[in-house]
Amino acid sequence: MSNQKLKIAVIGGDGTGPEVAAEAIKVLAAVAKLEGIEFETTDYDFGGDRYLRTGEILPTGAVDELRGYDAMFLGAVGHPDVAPGILEKGLLLELRFQLDQYINLRPVKLYPGVETPLAGKGPEDIDFVVVRENTEDLYCGTGGFLKKGTPDEVAVQSAVYTRKGCERCIRWAFEFTRRRNNPKGKRLTLVAKTNVLTYGHDLWWRTFQDVAGEYTDVEADYNHVDACCMWMVKNPEYYDVIVTTNMFGDIITDLGGILQGGMGVAAGGNINPDPGGTSMFEPMGGSAPKYTGQGVINPIAAIGAMAMLLEQTGHQAAADRVLKAIQVVTGTKMKSQAAGKMGHGTTEVGDLVCAAL
Ligand code: IPM
Ligand code: MN
Repeated sequence: MSNQKLKIAVIGGDGTGPEVAAEAIKVLAAVAKLEGIEFETTDYDFGGDRYLRTGEILPTGAVDELRGYDAMFLGAVGHPDVAPGILEKGLLLELRFQLDQYINLRPVKLYPGVETPLAGKGPEDIDFVVVRENTEDLYCGTGGFLKKGTPDEVAVQSAVYTRKGCERCIRWAFEFTRRRNNPKGKRLTLVAKTNVLTYGHDLWWRTFQDVAGEYTDVEADYNHVDACCMWMVKNPEYYDVIVTTNMFGDIITDLGGILQGGMGVAAGGNINPDPGGTSMFEPMGGSAPKYTGQGVINPIAAIGAMAMLLEQTGHQAAADRVLKAIQVVTGTKMKSQAAGKMGHGTTEVGDLVCAAL
C-alpha cells in the first residue's frame, strides 16, 4: 500500500471546515515529502452552500465515486441557513452508513501544554480511546409519527442493534486494544446500559462476553454509561479502550473532547476496516460559523485527524511524526487551544506543525 499513490477525497464542507482541512493537507504535503509518500487530493464541494444552490446534498453516483478513494477527509458539516438535521443526516450520516464505516474511533489524549478542566490531571492521566459503533442504534432513523400535530401525537424512534453490527465492532475493539498494548495493562471497557436496555444492550453484553473469550490477554471490563461519565471525570486514568453504542459514544466523546482541551483538539475517524473499505477522517468540532473566514479557528484537531488517516492507510511512521509535531506545537508554541486565543492564526499553527515535523 505504501508505495502506491494515496488518493484522498476532500470534503471541506461548511463554515470553518475548509480552513482546517487546508491546514491538514498542508501538513500532509510536508510529511509526505519527508517520508516519500505520493498522494493526490480531489476536492468535493458537498455541504450547505451547494445544497442551498442546487437542492442536492450528495449527487447521484457520488458515493460510488468516493468508494474509489483510499480515504476521505471531511472538514465540517452544519450551515446556519440549513435546518438542523438535513446536512447531518444527508451528508455525514449518509456517508458513514453507505460506506459502512462501522467504527468511529475517537482518541481522548491530552497533549502537552493543553489545559484540561480536570484539576490535577495531566497528559499521563488522560489518554484513552473510544471505539463507537457507527452504523446502528438510534442513528438508524427508524421511527415515525402517529397523529402528528394533534394532542394525541405519538413519536417513535427505535434503536436497532444487530448481532453482526455489535460483534464486528466489539471484535475490532478487542483487536485494537491488543495492538495498542497499553503498558499499564490492556483493558477494554464495554460502556452500555444493561440495567435498563434489557434487550438491545443484553445483545451487546452477550456478544461482548462471547468475543472476550478469544482475547484472554485483554481485561474485559464493563461500565454503565452514567457511571462512565462520572469516572471519566474522576479517574480518567482508569480507561484504556472503551467500546460503546452509537448514541452513547456520541455523548461520551464530547465529554472526552473537553477533557482533552476542547473541540479544537479532538479528532475522529469513521473507519471501514474491511478489505477495500473507504474510511473518513474528521475533526470533531463543528463548522463554527461565527469564526468562518477569520483565520482564528484551531486546526490541531484536523491535523490530528490527518495523522489518523495516515495510520489507517498504512503510513505509521508519517502518522507518528505528525502526532509528535502536534505535541511540540501544543507544548511549546500555543497559548491556548480556543479559537482566537491560540497566540497564532490558523495558518500559522499549520506552519508551526510543518516546521516541527
Ligand atoms: C459527531 C456529531 C454527529 C453525530 C452529528 C453532527 C450528526 O455530533 O460526529 O459526533 O451525532 O454523530
Ligand atoms: Mn457528536
